[in-house]
Amino acid sequence: MQKVIKRSGPLKGEITAAADKSISHRAVIFSSLARGESIIRNFLQAADTLSSCSCMRQLGVNITRDGSNLKINSQGLNGLKEAPDVLDCGNSGTTMRLMTGLLAARPFFTVLSGDESLNGRPMKRVTQPLQAMGAKIWGRKEGAYPPLAVKGKELEGIKYSMPVASAQVKSALLLAGLNARGDTVIIEPERSRDHSENMLAAMGADIEVNGHEIRLKPGRDLQATEFLVPGDISSAAFFIVGASLVSGSELLLKDIGINFTRSGIIEVLINMGGNIKIENRRNIGGEEIADLVVKSAELHGTRVEGDIIPRLIDEIPILAVAMALAKGESIVSGASELRVKETDRIAAICSELGKMGVKIQESEDGFSIQGSPDCLTGNKVKSHGDHRIAMSLAIAALCAEGETTIDGAEAVSISFPEYWELLEKTCR
Ligand code: S3P
Repeated sequence: MQKVIKRSGPLKGEITAAADKSISHRAVIFSSLARGESIIRNFLQAADTLSSCSCMRQLGVNITRDGSNLKINSQGLNGLKEAPDVLDCGNSGTTMRLMTGLLAARPFFTVLSGDESLNGRPMKRVTQPLQAMGAKIWGRKEGAYPPLAVKGKELEGIKYSMPVASAQVKSALLLAGLNARGDTVIIEPERSRDHSENMLAAMGADIEVNGHEIRLKPGRDLQATEFLVPGDISSAAFFIVGASLVSGSELLLKDIGINFTRSGIIEVLINMGGNIKIENRRNIGGEEIADLVVKSAELHGTRVEGDIIPRLIDEIPILAVAMALAKGESIVSGASELRVKETDRIAAICSELGKMGVKIQESEDGFSIQGSPDCLTGNKVKSHGDHRIAMSLAIAALCAEGETTIDGAEAVSISFPEYWELLEKTCR
């Protein structure tokens, strides 16, 4: 699908972004392990999170949908059953990595596969520590790539220092550790998103977080509960940057999750001169939520590196758009993880913004940009099949001279199916 976008007038009004993808995945997977009935309100109905739902259904969990709410009826962790077919994780790295951790400790056989992008993404980061816990997992290229075959068995808790900050790996190990023999201790080099820790604690698991160390003691049953999924800051980010860049904009974004481990984008934009007010802060189920008021502002260049990177890893493509239109030089480094996302996001954003006239220079672990407020010209660009690249290019297109055609615009269905409709409504 192609989308043609012209320069826009101000972004105005009040919106809610798509429901949080990371929290929705975890809510459906963890609730499926709790005996009884769980309710998830405002569950993200998008391709990625529906992949997690269909995997849990194949393992015997009863999941019904009523509008944006899910009702989950489960026999508990020990009630999961061997799936009759390959589990299809679609495009979702979170589904595949979390499911691998969970299934490594279930007493049956599972095969996990995904689309072309997912089957090209690295899995050693999760299979290796799981194997150290005693797991039996096979995959292409010595276990490095999916499809993965998992023969579940009882595991031993380990102490594991993660070489890269990854919430997916951390969550996989926590799932594997739920009924392992002994404690599972994970040490992160930098803090990655902590929704799994929050949710497991809310469901009664014996989990303790001390700085960068997480300790899970096995043996406690998870309790069925009710979750309310907040708006996804990673989806809101496109509108936050859009409203910051298009002069005269004023946008209210309601009920957005601003968990510290996710909100690096707000800090960076404010540092760049952005006008973002955080209002009505509250805490729901261990997750901080707020309303954001964003007005257009003149941005200047900045440097993004170090331990803030995992706190805004998914927002770097849209941050590149803000940097392109900010005055002066911006540099992103230490973000080589972007090369193993749904596509190589460093290569993709550099090539596509380059086509629109941005002075952007690719490096191994990031890029540098010589920004200027009027540097963008419409062109034919492509999403590389990546939802966040498609949505970032759309915001660039709103600020570009002439017309931009985005190829592969359907990719937004992975995390934000209503994106095009909402963008049109906001720019009116
Ligand atoms: C996610 C964690 C991040 C992020 C991904 C979602 C999650 O990946 O990029 O979009 O829900 O746990 P890593 O854990 O690999 O850094």
